[in-house]
Amino acid sequence: MAHVTLITKDQIAKRVAEMGRQISADYAAGANPIALCVLKGAMFFCADLMRNITIDMALDFIQISSYGNEKYSSGVVTVLKEPQLDMHGRAVLIVEDIIDSGLSMREVFRYIESRGASMLRTATFLDKPAARKVEFRADYVGFSIDPKFVIGYGLDYAERYRNIPEIQVLNE
Ligand code: PRP
Repeated sequence: MAHVTLITKDQIAKRVAEMGRQISADYAAGANPIALCVLKGAMFFCADLMRNITIDMALDFIQISSYGNEKYSSGVVTVLKEPQLDMHGRAVLIVEDIIDSGLSMREVFRYIESRGASMLRTATFLDKPAARKVEFRADYVGFSIDPKFVIGYGLDYAERYRNIPEIQVLNE
């Protein structure tokens, strides 16, 4: 059976543009923050978000893995790829596709904090507050959704469906 659309392409574009405007307004001119894209899922959101941010911004990547090919987080977060830029004294905006249990963000946040970032904020495209195992609140949230397994716009299930240009509820 087909997956059901939860958030359309148009809704995504509109909301990401709003988030870009908000973030551009919130950072001081000359702050030159680093957008830290959490691979792989956040790649699509980060690319769209950055195109909607009008302040000068650097880009770096971190890759972590918590889910493997499972539907639920193992709770063990492994850093698969480290960021390259020096974060000491820099403003860093962690860009994530989804916050579910909160375990991944808690670990990434701690990891970047330990690299000496001066101001650390988080932007997530999707938030599932009802699925939290540890408390974590993002500074910028695209959409808050029910705890269903979603795919598309970068989000996968066992490495499938990332290229679907909208958010759908997995039907399996
Ligand atoms: C997904 C997602 C977040 C995390 C959220 O990553 O991109 O990083 O899970 O879940 P949590 O709040 O329960 O920790 P995943 O490990 O599936 O890697 P991917 O981005 O490469 O798909």
